[in-house]
Formats: sequence, structure tokens, C-alpha cells
Amino acid sequence: MAQRKKIAIIGAGNIGGELAMLVARRELGDCVLLDLPERADFARGKALDIMQTGALKGFDCRVIGTSDYAEIEGSDVVIVTAGVPRKPGMSREDLLAVNLKIIRTVAEGVRTHAPSAFVIVISNPLDAMVYEMKKRTGFPRERVVGMAGVLDSARMQFFLAEALGVSVKDVRALVLGGHGDTMVPVLSYCTVNGVPVRQLLPRETLDAIVKRTAGGGGEIVKLMGTSAYYAPAEGAMTMAEAYLRDEKRLLACAAYLQGEYGYHDLYMGVPVIIGGKGVERVVEIELTPEEKALLDRSAEAVRNLINEASRL
Ligand code: LAC
Repeated sequence: MAQRKKIAIIGAGNIGGELAMLVARRELGDCVLLDLPERADFARGKALDIMQTGALKGFDCRVIGTSDYAEIEGSDVVIVTAGVPRKPGMSREDLLAVNLKIIRTVAEGVRTHAPSAFVIVISNPLDAMVYEMKKRTGFPRERVVGMAGVLDSARMQFFLAEALGVSVKDVRALVLGGHGDTMVPVLSYCTVNGVPVRQLLPRETLDAIVKRTAGGGGEIVKLMGTSAYYAPAEGAMTMAEAYLRDEKRLLACAAYLQGEYGYHDLYMGVPVIIGGKGVERVVEIELTPEEKALLDRSAEAVRNLINEASRL
């Protein structure tokens, strides 16, 4: 008998709610929106609101809100948004101690109740959270991945499109490294339908875009008083769809590295292929010596964060 797919979303906040809505609108499968016991009713309310939208839009999808991990049993995909978001003036790293505790509980629930799921982590500080998720679940690296590069690349694509006055559809950008101030927008791979942006924009404009991209999340936190959610949710959905539909997409994602790019035992943003087996391949691309030096610096920052997490 054919079965509908099941997508579990851990954390029913802004990103979680938007994710559930995207799953429903695309009829990707049934959806479980899970939050803490004291927020279970909030999750139930969101689930009802989304299903009632289905009556207007005609999408057929069951969404439930809960705080019971048993409800995620048999999930094909688990997307983890749980954790405290940033407030203005905070870096993602400032969230380490508090979100680490949360991610450990989530990992336990996922390991017990959704042992064959493809897990996408969004919680911050991203690289340390996804590392902890892999460590605590014991899942293979193919099935634990972090959402950051897709979002950072999207932000850069938007900034480039704006500066060029061209459709964002034609702009491709690649942002690698950790999801923090040291992220590495790789200009040599940023193009407008294959035309390198370096041929189209002056150096100063590109430098400003690189800088704005690295601070792209913080820019929104400053404006809204909390983290972005539409683009982060869409970023994770892009990865979930690539898995569920076996699309074999090449996307910048935080992947567990075992020697690729010279890094070991580390999660960091690199180009990967996502298909039906999860992270099917880490793609090693050529980088200029300057780009590699920036990636090394970013890896170092991630390494420090992971070391700090291991002491907490
Ligand atoms: C951001 C958060 C989701 O960059 O990390 O907006």
C-alpha cells in the first residue's frame, strides 16, 4: 500500500510554523509540529489554522500539533528548528549553551522515535548544533545535515540581483564555510546565467555584497527583533524536497567532513548532492588560495565552537 510521507518539525515557532505551511501547500506529506509541553496547545492551534487554510486552497494534508515525541514515529524527514532565536546585538554563538541543552533533548527524541529519518537542523549556532545532533543520534552523515549555505547563498543572490538590476532567477551564488561572521561567499562561482559577477560589478560593490551577506541574518534580527523565518524555512524545504523527490540537487549545506577540503570531524558549509539517499556526495571544488585561506579561518571558528560545546 502506498503511504503518504511524514515530515516532523521540531519547534513550532516562526520557522516551524512557516515550514508546516510550506509542507501543506506543496502536499509533501503529513506533518507533525512538535514543541515543549507548555507550548503544545500553541502548536495545535497552528496546525488547525494551517489545515483550515487547506479548505480554502484545496490542499490535502494532515497537520498535528503535539509535545509527544511518539507522534513523530515513522517520519521520513525531521526538521529541527527548536531553540532560542537571536535578539538584536547577539551573535549566533551567544546561543550555544542554551540551545545545546535543547538540541540534546531533541536528538534523544529523534533517535528513539524516528531512527530512519533524514534530519535537517536549522537551530543556531548551526554548525555546532548539527554536529551535536549527529553525535547524539549516532545517525550516519548521509542523514544529518545543516541548513545554512542555501540561505546564505539565497541572500547573496538577492543582493547581487538588486545591484545588477537583473532577475534573481538568473543569479547563482555559492556561500561556504560556517554559518557565522566567517562564512565564505565564493565570488569565483557567483554568476548571472554563467557570466561571472566579477565581469559585471565593480570590486567595491562586490566587497560590500560579500560583507552584507555575512551579516545578512543579523541585519534582519536588528530590524525585526528576532530571526528571519521565511527564507530559512524555504531553504530547509528545498533540502527536504531534494531528499523526498530524489532530485540530486547540488546545494551548499553544512555536512560532516571526513577529510574533504582537508577537514576532519567537523560540520561546515560545502557543496553537496542531496538525493534519495540523503547527503549522497560532498563535492570538492577548486578554490583560489585566498578562498581556501578564508575557508580555513571559518573551519577554525567552527572547530572552536564545537570544542566549546563539548565542554558544556
Ligand atoms: C538566519 C538564521 C536562521 O541566518 O540562522 O537568519
